[in-house]
Amino acid sequence: MCRCDRRTIMHLFLLLILQATAAFGQIDPAHCRSALGMGDKRIKDEAITASSQWYETTGPQYARLNLEEGDGAWCPKGQLEPSDSQYLQVDLGSLTFLTVVGTQGRYARNSGNEFARAYRLNYSSDGGLWKSWRDRLGNTVIEGNKDAYTSVIKDIHPPIITRYIRLMPVTKPFTTVCMRVELYGCLWDDGLISYSAPEGQPMTQPGYPFASFNDSTYDGVHEKRKLSGGLGQLTDGVIGLDDFLLTRQYNVWPGYDYLGWRNDSLGSQGYVEMEFVFDKQRNFTSMKVHSNNMFSRGVKIFSSVSCWFKPRLIAAWEPEPVTFVTVLDDRNPSARYVTVPLNRRTAKSIRCRFVFADVWMMFSEVSFQSVDTIVPTLLVPSPAANEETTGTTSLKTTVSPSPSGPPEDVSTPILIGCLVTIILLLVVIIFLILWCQCVCKVLEKAPRRILDEDVTVRLSSCSDTIILQTPPVPPRSGHTPGPVNTDPHYERVFLLDPQYQNPAVLRNKLPELSQSAEASACGGGYAEPDITQCTPHQCFHSNAPHYAETDIVRLQGVTGSNMYAVPALTVDSLTRKDISAAEFPRQQLIFREKLGEGQFGEVHLCEAEGLTEFLGEGSPLPESDGHSVLVAVKQLRADATSQARNDFLKEIKIMSRLNGPNIIRLLCVCVSSDPLCMVTEYMENGDLNMFLSQREIESTLTHANNIPSVSLSDLLHMSVQIASGMKYLASLNFVHRDLATRNCLLDRRLTIKIADFGMSRNLYSSDYYRIQGRAVLPIRWMAWESILLGKFTTASDVWAFGVTLWEIFTLCKEQPYSLLSDEQVIENTGEFFRNQGRQIFLYSPPLCPPSLFELMMRCWRRDIPDRPTFEGLYQALRPQVNSEQRPPGCRLGRGFP
Ligand code: ADE
Repeated sequence: MCRCDRRTIMHLFLLLILQATAAFGQIDPAHCRSALGMGDKRIKDEAITASSQWYETTGPQYARLNLEEGDGAWCPKGQLEPSDSQYLQVDLGSLTFLTVVGTQGRYARNSGNEFARAYRLNYSSDGGLWKSWRDRLGNTVIEGNKDAYTSVIKDIHPPIITRYIRLMPVTKPFTTVCMRVELYGCLWDDGLISYSAPEGQPMTQPGYPFASFNDSTYDGVHEKRKLSGGLGQLTDGVIGLDDFLLTRQYNVWPGYDYLGWRNDSLGSQGYVEMEFVFDKQRNFTSMKVHSNNMFSRGVKIFSSVSCWFKPRLIAAWEPEPVTFVTVLDDRNPSARYVTVPLNRRTAKSIRCRFVFADVWMMFSEVSFQSVDTIVPTLLVPSPAANEETTGTTSLKTTVSPSPSGPPEDVSTPILIGCLVTIILLLVVIIFLILWCQCVCKVLEKAPRRILDEDVTVRLSSCSDTIILQTPPVPPRSGHTPGPVNTDPHYERVFLLDPQYQNPAVLRNKLPELSQSAEASACGGGYAEPDITQCTPHQCFHSNAPHYAETDIVRLQGVTGSNMYAVPALTVDSLTRKDISAAEFPRQQLIFREKLGEGQFGEVHLCEAEGLTEFLGEGSPLPESDGHSVLVAVKQLRADATSQARNDFLKEIKIMSRLNGPNIIRLLCVCVSSDPLCMVTEYMENGDLNMFLSQREIESTLTHANNIPSVSLSDLLHMSVQIASGMKYLASLNFVHRDLATRNCLLDRRLTIKIADFGMSRNLYSSDYYRIQGRAVLPIRWMAWESILLGKFTTASDVWAFGVTLWEIFTLCKEQPYSLLSDEQVIENTGEFFRNQGRQIFLYSPPLCPPSLFELMMRCWRRDIPDRPTFEGLYQALRPQVNSEQRPPGCRLGRGFP
């Protein structure tokens, strides 16, 4: 957990500071996704208006996502026609960077069924001039709801900078429409309401694809090769790549992310002039221009820029510009932010001339930083201003008189507040790091031991970033410590964050998740789905909501050899009639040896006297020599909590319904008195992890030295058996939740059986589970959606199967992601979610043929429908086993389908 030395700490610290400074002033759409306050009423009723309302009780104030007030939603009057343009209007109070819109229909506790299948967005920064939003392909209609209660969350690409927004339902003829809404985004601090610039130009260079550097999302006027009165790609938060031909956006033309100009196409002036208009008079500290610098293709950052300022729109430009000369860089072709100090000049409007340094100049973002206190005096270039120009830039002249307009706003306290918060955060981080170092020393001898302290995992307020805290828990005198988790496979996670307690909130925090996954999973809603109509595979392609409340599990309770998470039961406790296994007289269980120990009980090897007779004929019996049979007896500690007891009974219930050749068999139970016991078949060769870690791959050396070994075909055979067991579980819609080699047992003939169903539960159970208190999670085996959302499905079992395959082909010599700490594993989970190519995958084990590794990688696909099914995995792996007769090197050579 804490392997941080001083150097790492310093690096981390520096990185944090650098990131904090770099991030300051620029909007990152990926992190600007906070609910703006429809659902929690931070947006007041007065700010929500509409073109009409059907009744008082369906007025605009009831258009709040996830609330059921009034008659449950806003409904415009009458049945709508396609030509109607009824709207719901929200005044966000200030300029806002809007990235996501969520909609719901009128459910009204099952008495309503009206919703908008589609809608348009209009927006206005001043409430006067309205513009229609369109996506990057020019479409104006956004797909809405398919039923009345599921919220549909849509990313708005490009984002909208606005204060007022209108949602306009789009309907078929004669439809009654009702809507509830949430808006997501963040404050638009820049205050920029429009920019004007010369139109961008195309580039045709022999040997290179045609590229166009126009501002394709510009929402102002295009006239005489000039853009004016709007915003576009320079404020969409999308930063261009180093190679301007590559784009972050899919399905667009080369050069899409940049607005670019060719020097000679603008006459002989040698510069590009742009004008920026702001919401109010501001005190500008700097301007950041993200610029391409691919000098090998004739593109460079500007050589200098001069900016003029205007305190009011109807006023003359002040004569003294701020001029800034950059240090040109012919060595590093990276695109970069150039920070131009603006020396606290006061303006409502700024005009800047960017001077070409080469044939081309290309910008992808422009942002402005300002403070709101107006300083109406002569400004002298301050050292602070110089400091802002990191790296390549230097200041030339900046002296200019500033006009003394009346201050329109005073928000220095806000700035100071922000700075103080940042400093406090840094202090807390340093404290945590130092504390971590301290604990490290204590734990040096047991580096992989899981700490007893809880790790809080949460999604940060407006992003999917994961923040980890390890609050020190002071030992309480006289307090008997609870059971300590000594199993290195499980990370103790203390899911305190309210976001984990309330799925709706979490869904709102990760709208892109709900959206992307929406069409990809089954089992949502509140009703128990009909399992007979829905195989897991079909389900993953249905339109049912992916992230349903049912997927939030209550994580608590441990039995047997592992600590694990199990769902809560809706009934207080399971009764005997829930358990179909027969009650065996416990006095006929003769203890032989201890096989293992878990937090809440032990597993014993016992002789079961008379078990053969007890089970009767026709029942597949474990091998026995005569009257007694060797069995494994998992027993719950007598002092276990009622929750653990319930969990234990639940596990019994699950196991008593399973009957497959690769699933551990429950033979009988002792539940009429304490301690509760479950009796399973005894697996002589123990668990697969232990078995493999004590073996080497078969070779002449292992033969010569009698070293226990396994062949590649043994490994494949093991993999097929696990796939077969999981295929069986999946066919019953059972989710195991803890598939790993440690939970696969081997019998005398090396048949593998999947065990430990403590965490499993019916995939489509309609029980509503909440995360509460402590949970111990096998994070290195868990899919990102299980860690981040508590969502366990057959598809997350497939993920764990991929990790299990990886364990098998590394002969369990290494823990998955052994170089990552638990915190880093969780951080990596965030990267899997973001899917921006920064996630770290498990490496291909040397024994593993590429095609098999490819199969593993498919198990770790971010999107659930892209992962294989167990049926598919089984079919892909099975033929490989039959190729056993070939020499070892060739056996695995064939590709997996
Ligand atoms: N450890 C846990 N369960 C076991 C079983 N059924 N057989 C052997 N060892 C075990």
